[in-house]
Amino acid sequence: MKITVIGTGYVGLVVGTGLAENGHLVTCVDRDSAVIEMLNAGKLPIHEPGLEELVTRNVEEDRLQFSTDLQSAVAETLLVFICVGTPVGPDGNIDDSEVFRAAEDVARSITGYRILVNKSTCAIGSTERLRERVAELTSEPFDVVVNPEFLKEGAAVDDFLRPDRIIVGCEDVRVMEIMKELYGPFLRTGKPLIEMDLRSAEMTKFATNAMLAVRINMMNELAGLCEAHGGDINRVREGVAADSRIGQAYLFPGLGLGGSCLPKDVEAGAHMGRAKDVPCRLLEAVLQLNDEHLRRFINRILTFYNEELAGARIAVWGASFKPRTDDIRGAPALRIIDALLEAGAEVVVFDPAAGLRLRQHYGDRVALAPKAYNALEQADGLVICTEWREFHRPDYERMGELMRRKVIFDGRNLYTPKTMADRGFRYFSVGRAPV
Ligand SMILES: NC(=O)c1ccc[n+]([C@@H]2O[C@H](COP(=O)([O-])OP(=O)(O)OC[C@H]3O[C@@H](n4cnc5c(N)ncnc54)[C@H](O)[C@@H]3O)[C@@H](O)[C@H]2O)c1
Repeated sequence: MKITVIGTGYVGLVVGTGLAENGHLVTCVDRDSAVIEMLNAGKLPIHEPGLEELVTRNVEEDRLQFSTDLQSAVAETLLVFICVGTPVGPDGNIDDSEVFRAAEDVARSITGYRILVNKSTCAIGSTERLRERVAELTSEPFDVVVNPEFLKEGAAVDDFLRPDRIIVGCEDVRVMEIMKELYGPFLRTGKPLIEMDLRSAEMTKFATNAMLAVRINMMNELAGLCEAHGGDINRVREGVAADSRIGQAYLFPGLGLGGSCLPKDVEAGAHMGRAKDVPCRLLEAVLQLNDEHLRRFINRILTFYNEELAGARIAVWGASFKPRTDDIRGAPALRIIDALLEAGAEVVVFDPAAGLRLRQHYGDRVALAPKAYNALEQADGLVICTEWREFHRPDYERMGELMRRKVIFDGRNLYTPKTMADRGFRYFSVGRAPV
């Protein structure tokens, strides 16, 4: 099939490339000409493991191309995927204006039947409104589909090519058959394509992220109990996760929700509740708790150094909101770095992928270290914000030699407190007694 994908960000680029990888002819369109120029020059605007190789191969085999010209792209394609950003506004309402703008551009360009597939996360009922808006602008026939995306940055290629499930919200049986045909190759291992109405599909995306957000915050709440009463949250997690009713995923205690999706989707869910007078108290609490847990971690650092933080040199390992991505949107590290800067500390950050984004965000207010150990030189402390693999088993002796003060605040519980104490470190983690 010929397909247009609008938006070449963390979702659109993976979706477009993944569809091309399955033999479809895909044009990825973005209004940002710098991004399209980069892609056409063979460079990726984002860091996502395994993506570059797939992009290169599919471009070389003429199944994937990049353009700013939406009109030409949709001239011949049956399916148009919308993968543009949907940030939340200050009141928690999802801003779907870019989704509407993209759909309006499509409506003004099409010359025959099209299927608009909305992958952007929008408030419940948005796609119905979108259908009304498109119908105002074109007399050409079209259908709309809600097809939420569940990929995780850092594992996005695999998630898209081998999804747990595909959700398709659609009101026409023939369109549903086309979606099944499209996704058939992705579901060969027997994973389901679940059919539903438009609103249920929109809701499923929020419901999934709400569940994950609650789990993360539950663990951080239990971590607080361990800190107050004793116990090691890492052992507790293992014990809880071994229960088949609960399972392993999203139970790691740490710095809380981050990224461009989970926090915003929880916020949007809470807003949708307020808008219809069905308060979502659990979601409201999650937002508040998430903030409190992170503040508790930050306060631990501030309290430890007290006045001495002004002029202290603090190393930060990891800034992306999770490993294997360069995405720092909503990353807890930013809140921590901001607090350190505000207290007058000199901050030196090492992140294997997010350097450029940090530079764009902070300018020269933070120093960027070229390698992990460079960040530690003469440091009065280390804060671990992201669990990149290379931080898991470092050379503790070298760390100790480089640092001025052997103090670690580990937001990801990478090390065992006893090991760190034996090596002469002051070590603070989450949900375990400090040493
Ligand atoms: N990032 C994730 O992990 C993830 C996972 C699942 C779902 N989502 C959802 O997918 C959507 C996209 O997220 P993202 O992280 O890829 O966003 P992003 O900000 O990385 O990318 C959006 C891209 O769309 C382009 N764009 C915006 N408006 C446009 C328009 N009118 N025409 C053409 N291009 C336009 C932007 O230039 C940008 O390159 C959001 O609704 C998000 O909530 C994201």
